[in-house]
Amino acid sequence: MVQKGKKEMIRSPKGMHDMLPADVRYYDELTRTAREIVEYYGFSEIKTPHVEHAELFLRPLGETSDVVQKEMYTFRTKGGDLLALRPEGTAAIMRAFAEHGMASWPQPVKLFYEGSFFRHENPQRGRYREFRQFGIEILGDMDPVSDALSIKALYLTLLELGFKNIMVHINSIGNRDCRPAYKKELSNYYRKKFNYLCKNCKRRLKENPMRILDCKEATCIELKAQAPQMIEYLCDGCKTHFRGTLEFLDEAGIPYMLDNYLVRGFDYYSRTVFEIFVEDDAPIPKELKEGEVAPEEKERAAPIALAGGGRYDDLMMLLGGKPLPATGGGIGIERVMHEMKRLSLPLKAKPQPKVFLIQIGPAAKKKSFVLLDKLRDEHILVDSSLSRDNLKTQLNIAAKIEARVALIVGQKEAMEGSVIMRDMDEGIQETVMDQKLFEKLKAKLKTKK
Ligand code: HAM
Repeated sequence: MVQKGKKEMIRSPKGMHDMLPADVRYYDELTRTAREIVEYYGFSEIKTPHVEHAELFLRPLGETSDVVQKEMYTFRTKGGDLLALRPEGTAAIMRAFAEHGMASWPQPVKLFYEGSFFRHENPQRGRYREFRQFGIEILGDMDPVSDALSIKALYLTLLELGFKNIMVHINSIGNRDCRPAYKKELSNYYRKKFNYLCKNCKRRLKENPMRILDCKEATCIELKAQAPQMIEYLCDGCKTHFRGTLEFLDEAGIPYMLDNYLVRGFDYYSRTVFEIFVEDDAPIPKELKEGEVAPEEKERAAPIALAGGGRYDDLMMLLGGKPLPATGGGIGIERVMHEMKRLSLPLKAKPQPKVFLIQIGPAAKKKSFVLLDKLRDEHILVDSSLSRDNLKTQLNIAAKIEARVALIVGQKEAMEGSVIMRDMDEGIQETVMDQKLFEKLKAKLKTKK
């Protein structure tokens, strides 16, 4: 409670959060794993600005998409430019491709990125206003092997992190040639059901009927069951491409299910679209009162996509350039971190320091301040507590972190250029002259596995 007359402490903006050190360990594990995998497949990292011209997103994402209609953070500069905090990464990668003449680079150009994106969403489970993504893009290739590679890289990242029941939901939404006929059929179907559509979908019917397939309202979900399916309308080229993508997934043993109603929130997609989910098999506690829903059950009720992506052969054209076949996808970092914690997936053990540096007195503290860097130069992992002066306290900390060797510097050692090396397991200690310290310490550590 805030006391009268006291100012309330400033908090982080709604939907934006701090990532504390314990969380950053998950963040690091995810990005390190993803990076290792995509670098193996020949992707290189790109960094683009967090702020772009708002126009970059308007047409490619779709004037009628939720992100453009209500979720973009835009602002005018003093010079009058309309800029936006980037809501996603793909359009910016396309811009960079054109801006830096990447068409003259060896094709395809395979890029990856990680960082923050911004959408003014209603904060709820798995939805933040600032969130992070690890994304990959393969530019300049129409072969279905690239669609499958994007999916495989994201799938393998989740697998490597320890997720078990990973399922890729996949669909083809056709291209500019075959999609219009499907959209027309879909409009006809929903026009007949107009009165049952939710308020937003009544509007979506006029703007883009395919967005109705993505609606989360119960009545619209029910209506979807009888709606026409894109797969029936695919032209031969799109059919062959989709079959090709699925064959590569089969070959790699990647589990997938055809989701005939999967559409994505942005207009730039064509042909392959996919989302990756982790199917939950955690047991639900039985001791619940009647009518009570377990928190785990609530979470299970609405699975959220951990990753999503697809092909976007028309994006460059939407930006005013020549068509460029391309495909890719992105992992939602916060969502994956949340699931890792919920499913208690273990983090890889962090290397623990085996040496603890103890100092007693002002001269010893100065010597230790420098000795720490000398130990780092020798690649010896050391912990210390330079702000403490008491021997017993520091020995206790050394025991607590399970250090195998303590280096003790007192006034005498600081003066004569030596260090006391204490074997923490056996309680035996010896004085070592500074010149011999690293040699003796390394030999000692070799005996401590
Ligand atoms: P997206 O599906 O909008 O696609 O986002 C990718 C992933 O980011 C989602 O699957 C989800 O895990 C996470 N995500 C999205 N919005 C939020 C949010 N508000 N809070 C937390 N996590 C979120 C894209 O952004 C495309 N650029 C992906 C792509 C790359 N397509 C082709 N290449």
